[in-house]
Amino acid sequence: MKKAEKVRYVLGIHFGHDSSCSLVKDGKVIASVAEERFTQSKHYSLPPIRALSYCLKSAGITMKDVDLVVFPSIARLMELEVLLNLQKQPWVPKGDSGIAKDLSYYIRYFLIETIRLLRKKLVELPTYVKRYDASGKEVLHIEHHLAHAASCYYTSGFNEKALVITADGSGDGLSTTVWVGEKGRLSPLLKVGREGSLGAFYGTVTEALGWIVSDGEGKTMGLAPYGNTRKTRGKLNFICPHYEKGRLVKPYNWGWPAEWKDESADHWHFSAADRVKELAEKYGNENIAAEAQRLLERELLAFVKYWKDKTGLKRVAVSGGVFLNVKANQRILESKIFDEFFAFPDAGDSGVSAGAALYGYYLKNPGAKIERLTNTYWGPLYTNEEIEKVLKVRKLKYKRLPTRQIPKEAAKLLARGKIVGWFQGRMEAGPRALGSRSILMDPRKAENKDIINATVKYREAFRPFCPSILEEAAYEYFEDAEKAPFMIISFDVKKGYEKNIPAVTHVDGTARPQTVNKKQNPLYYGLIKEFGRITGVPVLLNTSFNIKGKPIVCSPEDAIKCFYDTGIEYMFLGNFVLRK
Ligand SMILES: [Fe+2]
Repeated sequence: MKKAEKVRYVLGIHFGHDSSCSLVKDGKVIASVAEERFTQSKHYSLPPIRALSYCLKSAGITMKDVDLVVFPSIARLMELEVLLNLQKQPWVPKGDSGIAKDLSYYIRYFLIETIRLLRKKLVELPTYVKRYDASGKEVLHIEHHLAHAASCYYTSGFNEKALVITADGSGDGLSTTVWVGEKGRLSPLLKVGREGSLGAFYGTVTEALGWIVSDGEGKTMGLAPYGNTRKTRGKLNFICPHYEKGRLVKPYNWGWPAEWKDESADHWHFSAADRVKELAEKYGNENIAAEAQRLLERELLAFVKYWKDKTGLKRVAVSGGVFLNVKANQRILESKIFDEFFAFPDAGDSGVSAGAALYGYYLKNPGAKIERLTNTYWGPLYTNEEIEKVLKVRKLKYKRLPTRQIPKEAAKLLARGKIVGWFQGRMEAGPRALGSRSILMDPRKAENKDIINATVKYREAFRPFCPSILEEAAYEYFEDAEKAPFMIISFDVKKGYEKNIPAVTHVDGTARPQTVNKKQNPLYYGLIKEFGRITGVPVLLNTSFNIKGKPIVCSPEDAIKCFYDTGIEYMFLGNFVLRK
């Protein structure tokens, strides 16, 4: 294939923590899903074979129609090569710009990969696993962080020059990168190795507090406002990488974390977590969490500010797991350093397949316009016929409603204090439920938070819930509110309004809203509007449709299991209503 040749379909396949697959058509993500949703095993880390099958099927295409395949990793991925029949492809990655610059870690990677290959020798597919023949197609390997950068840049809508920043635990030996996006091209300004990882820092603290690295960081963030840093200030400095003038000046040698698999998901242990655990026992978990959050915000804010000043760029796009920290994002936004701030909603590793596919598309279609992402409903859709079949087989009692009745009925139940399961349309990509696979409740009563934590989510009482709010009402409820359709940034709840929505206002007076407009999700918009008409509060408590420790439900079968295994009282599955 010649470089200038236009491509239509680009497939991105991520194999690793949160394995996923994404399909880009004409510059837009049209399908993207993490394998965990199909396996219902959180952070599933084996090859995303079901996600791959889904992406092709949902677009009505086969592998033959795919123009380009992009892997968001520079490592050789034997399992994928076998799955895609690519064994004869040269392994040297193409499409990456940093080889010479980052020679040392490429050599390291090469050695590690060689050892891995020697040990593994051969990967062979069981006969029941379908092969997707991509032999003869162009295949690119790109750096993990380039894929994170691409995910936010090519969905930012920034057609003017923009700053792009990524930060995560680590990927392909890097943890933090800075880029300039201009005319559809990403040029690197800075690449920092694992020793500068703010994600590993926050993950280590998370592990020390008793949770899972690359999973429980949201809990650390949720716990932080319950503590203070009076006695813990400075206590975590020893593992917090420190940046000055946009450069890493105090690295931390994490060593290679211990790795193991649990339910087919990668898990890590950082030895530094043992020491942090001792500190947590001495000073209290919440005070250690507060200090970790303070340090993260301090480092991140100073870092982005430096690169803003250095480049003079007014817009920034961010991605990587660290930017799932909505409080840190809030600090950046409210500092008003940038005129525009865009965080890719699927900022963790499940989002790198989308980034890889977008990178491939823009590489082959230089100058193509970059459009702002408006929704992430990229997952499976189940028709009423499919849903009804599942209900009938299980001999469940249900009622069928016309579409226009669904928001009315659901709003009525919610206003009466019921817990409602809401399974509608295409599943959302990323860690947040955005009104497709959601559990909903009335946000006006403070006790609803405890009810839902205790009877549905089975999780820690301190964990906050988030509001979905009509876009036009967000300005009334939140300080300096902007459109925030993806729950990736928090805002201060306006004085006096916390009394209206206590179940979704965190202890520090913030909330992480999803603003909803009619175009993005008409049915969900209709529901919130109807609830607002009945109660005067156009806001719902929205939490993901899952049980603690499990991924968000994907299929009607998953939803039914969750419904009967929890205290959810009503469930709206497509046009069907079930009650207990
Ligand atoms: Fe990552």
